[in-house]
This record gives sequence, structure tokens and C-alpha cells, in this order.
Amino acid sequence: MICFFFLSFSRSLLIYPVVFLPFHPTPVFLSLAGFVKSPLSETKLTGDTFELYCDVVGNPTPEIQWWYSEINRADSFRQLWDGARKRRVSISTAYGTNAVSVLGVSRLTLDDAGTYECRASNDPRRNDLHQNPATTWIRAQATITVLQKPSITASEHNTLPVEGDALTLQCNLTSAHSAHEESYWMKNGEEIPETRSSNRNTEYRLNKPRGDDAGVYMCVYTFLMAPPANATIEIKSAPEITGHKRSENKNEGQRAVLYCKSVGYPHPVWTWRKFVNGVFREIDNSTGRFFISSRDNYTELHIINLDINLDPGEYHCNATNMISTRDEKSVLRVRSHLAPLWPLLGVLAEIIILVIIIVVYEKRKKPEDLQDGESPEMVKTNSTNNHKDKNLRQRNTN
Ligand SMILES: *[C@@H]1O[C@H](CO)[C@@H](O)[C@H](O)[C@H]1NC(C)=O
Ligand SMILES: *[C@@H]1O[C@H](CO)[C@@H](O)[C@H](O)[C@H]1NC(C)=O
Ligand SMILES: *[C@@H]1O[C@H](CO)[C@@H](O)[C@H](O)[C@H]1NC(C)=O
Ligand SMILES: *[C@@H]1O[C@H](CO)[C@@H](O)[C@H](O)[C@H]1NC(C)=O
Ligand SMILES: *[C@@H]1O[C@H](CO)[C@@H](O)[C@H](O)[C@H]1NC(C)=O
Repeated sequence: MICFFFLSFSRSLLIYPVVFLPFHPTPVFLSLAGFVKSPLSETKLTGDTFELYCDVVGNPTPEIQWWYSEINRADSFRQLWDGARKRRVSISTAYGTNAVSVLGVSRLTLDDAGTYECRASNDPRRNDLHQNPATTWIRAQATITVLQKPSITASEHNTLPVEGDALTLQCNLTSAHSAHEESYWMKNGEEIPETRSSNRNTEYRLNKPRGDDAGVYMCVYTFLMAPPANATIEIKSAPEITGHKRSENKNEGQRAVLYCKSVGYPHPVWTWRKFVNGVFREIDNSTGRFFISSRDNYTELHIINLDINLDPGEYHCNATNMISTRDEKSVLRVRSHLAPLWPLLGVLAEIIILVIIIVVYEKRKKPEDLQDGESPEMVKTNSTNNHKDKNLRQRNTN
């Protein structure tokens, strides 16, 4: 057994390099470092940030380093470290089954342009000064080009309402590293249709601007071989509550949902309060049945397991931003569990009363009619006989 094991062990030793760790259940096969993902060349503008990714496999897990050389100075690579260039360089590396490293350089200057190299190795001799690093480390390079950020003059930020009928937003491209292709406008991160033009000076007109015209506007200039440049104009306004639930009618034990939505910029901070005896009160959540979820221009108040004594009343949503504050009311009514049964109970009560009346009436009537000890049938035959008699009498008189 041992002999067989030894044989196979020594045979594998001939084929692959094998590390046989004591107590390790299976032999571990060494594999050379190899790139899964290597950094990509990019063109950036001054002031921006770039990130390069390097993902390496190998066993044992390879070590990753980042190196830099100025453009056309490939002989002068220097190693980069986390915090270099006045903390504008960041390196974060995670070693797992792969080694993954991200190099970031922020607030770019023209001097940051150059060749960035990811080096990786799991060779045990990689730091041996007698070895040529070219044979023990693998490398992947990316070229970062940095262009002067184009300058754009833009209209001032503004607050609605404005004097006059219209508000015109302007951007002028005053200098650029190369001729621009075209410009367009965006609002809240989305392109405004039909605003593309090739002019250096561009305008966007807001006619009779209202609350929903508030937001973040951006003019964007595109370039053929370089990243787009942009400028931002903020148009602020008071929040305006454009929709809310006026009233909610629910049964006790059910869930009530009240909501409010708004326009205006910046998005408001939402709060909910209850109006009790002429004063606003914080919602008393001691029973843990109140849930508020708000995002940007929308807020919802959920009240679960409604209580007929505690919950009915006037709830107000309050939207407050740096410009102003607004508030809307919703009325919550809570009906008893039995409420849906009332119509049915009414009908039942009517039937019962009718039955009682009939019974009582019959009881009072019967004893009088039966006074002479006659059976009801006899009374009937009597009466028909009476009729016959009448008819007879009538004929006789004719
Ligand atoms: C843009 O240029 C036009 C024409 O030169 C000028 O009237 C306007 O004031 C400029 N706008 C800004 C925001 O600089
Ligand atoms: C606007 O410019 C900033 C800074 O250069 C950039 O990070 C952003 O991606 C640009 N946005 C658009 C939509 O071009
Ligand atoms: C609320 O904001 C979202 C994006 O945050 C937007 O899509 C939606 O139209 C806005 N609603 C109103 C009423 O302004
Ligand atoms: C009310 O209490 C519940 C349970 O403690 C909690 O999950 C919920 O967030 C609270 N709601 C508010 C509006 O504070
Ligand atoms: C909204 O709440 C804030 C802070 O409690 C308050 O100052 C403001 O008056 C409220 N707004 C309205 C319209 O009631």
C-alpha cells in the first residue's frame, strides 16, 4: 500500500511539480500565475478619477504589484504604493483563490499620464535579487492619457419661481482640447429629447417654469476621441405635494396605507404626524404598528392591525426642503368588525320583529274566534253557508 502510494507520488513528481503538505488530504498542484483580467487603456480629463483592474490566477495565489512609467520612458518604471502622490493613489488587493487588485488615481493632473503596469508572480524566487524579474513576474500594461478638462461657463443656479415668463439655461464651451462633436441637455440624469446641437453655445428654455421643472440640469459636450465634458445647473423649488390619499376607510384589524408624493428640488425630507385636539403630535408608535417608507418624492405610512379606539383621525404628511415646507392631510376612519354584518343584522331584526308581531296578533285573535268551542273548519263552513244563504236570499228577492 505504502509502496504503491510512494510509486504514484514519485511518478507524479516527474510530471508535475507537487507540493506535498503534511496532513493535507490531496497533493496541491502548482500552477503559474496567469491574467484573468488585465488593465485597459483609457483617456481621462483633469480632475477626474480612473481605476484599473487586475485579476490573476495561480497556485499558490500570486502576489500583485503596480508600477508606473511616464509616457515613452519605459526604462524608468517605479513601484506605486497605496497613498502615493499625496494620497491620490489607492491600491486595494484581495487574495483569495484569485488575486484581485484595483489601482485608483483621483483628482487627475496632466502629470498622471503614462504607462501603468500590473505585475504578478507566485514564483518562490520572485524576490531573489539573483533572478531576472522578467522571468519570474508576468506583466500587463495600460496607457492612461490625461487631457485638460474643457471649460464651460454655465448659467447660475436658480430658485423657482422666477420673475418673468421663462427661464433660459445657457452653456458656453469656452475652451477644449479638441473640437467638440455635439452638445445636449440632461435633466435629473436623463437626456432631454431634441436638445442635440453642434453649437458651442447652447440654451435650454423653461417656459413658465413650475415645481416639476425643478431639478438638476446638465449640458454635455461630446468629443470624438475623449470623454464628454459637462456643467451642472441646479434649479431649486419648494416641495409641492401633487398627490395624496384624502381618506382611507378600513375595518379594525386591517392595514391602512396613506401616501403623499411631491415635485420640487431638492427632494424633501418626509415626516408624518397626527393632528389631535388642535395640535400636531409625533405618531405614537408604542404599539409598533406604524411603518414609514420614504424615497425621494414619495412617502408611505402603513398602519397594521388597525385599532378602532386609537387609530382613527387626521394624519399629515410633511415635506420639507431647504426652500420651504408643505403639508397635506389624510383622514383615517376605522369601522368595527361587525360593520359589514349590520345590513344583514338589520334584515334579521326585521324578520324577527315581524314574526313576533304575527305571533302576538294570532295569539290575541284566536281565543276570541274560538270562544264558542267551534273548530276553525266549522267556522269556515259556517261562513260559506252564510254566503250561500245570502245568495239564496238575494235570488229570492229578485
Ligand atoms: C454665452 O455666450 C453668449 C454669447 O456670447 C452670452 O450672451 C451669454 O451671456 C454666455 N452665457 C454664459 C452663461 O456665459
Ligand atoms: C459629467 O462630468 C463628470 C466629471 O467630469 C463625470 O464624472 C460625469 O460622468 C459626467 N457626466 C456625464 C453624464 O457626462
Ligand atoms: C419622482 O422621482 C422619480 C425618480 O426619482 C421620477 O421618475 C418620478 O417621475 C417622480 N415623480 C414625480 C411625481 O415627480
Ligand atoms: C414602529 O415600530 C416598529 C416595531 O418596533 C418599527 O419596525 C417601525 O419602524 C416603527 N415605525 C416608526 C414610524 O418609527
Ligand atoms: C413640517 O415640519 C416642520 C418640522 O417639524 C415644521 O417646521 C413645518 O412647519 C411643517 N410644515 C407644515 C406645512 O406644517
